[in-house]
Amino acid sequence: MNSHAYPEVSEDTAQPIRFQRSARAMAAEGADEAMQACYRDEGYLLIEDFMPRDRCDALMAQAAELVEAFDPAENATVFSTTSKSHARDRYFGESGGKIRFFFEEDAFDEAGALRQAKALSINKIGHAMHDLDPVFDAFSRDPGLARLAGEIGLADPLLLQSMYIFKQPRIGGEVVCHQDSTFLTTDPMSVVGFWFALEDATLENGCLWALPGRHKEPIRQRFRRAEGKMVTEVLDPAPWSAEDAVPLEAKKGSLILLHGQLPHLSGPNLSPISRQAYTLHVIDGACRYLEDNWLQRPSDMPLRGF
Ligand code: FE2
Repeated sequence: MNSHAYPEVSEDTAQPIRFQRSARAMAAEGADEAMQACYRDEGYLLIEDFMPRDRCDALMAQAAELVEAFDPAENATVFSTTSKSHARDRYFGESGGKIRFFFEEDAFDEAGALRQAKALSINKIGHAMHDLDPVFDAFSRDPGLARLAGEIGLADPLLLQSMYIFKQPRIGGEVVCHQDSTFLTTDPMSVVGFWFALEDATLENGCLWALPGRHKEPIRQRFRRAEGKMVTEVLDPAPWSAEDAVPLEAKKGSLILLHGQLPHLSGPNLSPISRQAYTLHVIDGACRYLEDNWLQRPSDMPLRGF
C-alpha cells in the first residue's frame, strides 16, 4: 500500500488505546503512567471528553466569524486559478505570524469565482490564531494542556503553529501519510501535535489514522525553504505502509496527541457530515528551531508558552 492509498477497514483493523480525562482533571492530577507509556510506546495519546462540548462550540463559532470577516476578493491574486505560484507561496510563507485562509482545491471556477459558499470552500485557517485571536489563545493555553505537555517531556513548551481544519462535507480532501516533523523540524526533534475533535471524527467523515510505534523511525522528508521557494527534500523515498494503521475515531471534545515523527493520515470526507478539528503544534524551546523551516515567525512575534 503506498502513501496515497487510504486504509481499508476490516475485521483485522486494530483499535486504538483510549483514555478519558477532562482538561480540568488533567490540570489537577496530570497524566498517569499508562498515558505516558502510551505516548512513549505508541506515539499517540487519545483522550476522550477532554474539552467540554461548549468550548468546542465556542471555537467553532469563532472560526466561523473569522471566515465571515474574511474577504477573498482582497486576495484575488493569490486565489485565482491563474495566479502565479509565487503569490501563493508568499501568502502561505508569511502565514506563520498571521491568520490566513486556505481554500479547498477546485474551490474556484475558471473565472476565479467561488463554486459554492465561502464558508463551505475553506480547507483551513492558519497559522497563528493561538497568538492573535483571544478565543483561540484561551483554548490553546488551557492549564490542562500545559500540564500534559510537561508530562510528556516538553521542558520548555512553545506554541508554534495553530491550524483550524474544516474537512468540509463531500469535498474535504484527504491528507496523505506524513510526519509533522517533516514540516516543523527542531534539533533534536521535539514537535508534538495536539489535535482536538471539535465534532465527531468518524471513518465516514475522514478521521485520523496513525501507524502506532513508528514514531521511533526518522523523518523521511523535509518540507523547507530553499532559495526563496518551498521544497520537499526526500531523505528516504520508501512509502509508508498503511497496513498497520489504526483509525483514531474521536468523539467531539477528544484530544489526540501525535508525536512529531508518528506517521498519520486522514481520508477524504465524502459524507454529508462536517469534521472540524483544531490542531496546535508545540516545540521544546530547549531544542534548536531550524532556520530553513517553512514556518518562520516575524522577529517582533517571539514564540510564547502555555
Ligand atoms: Fe499532520
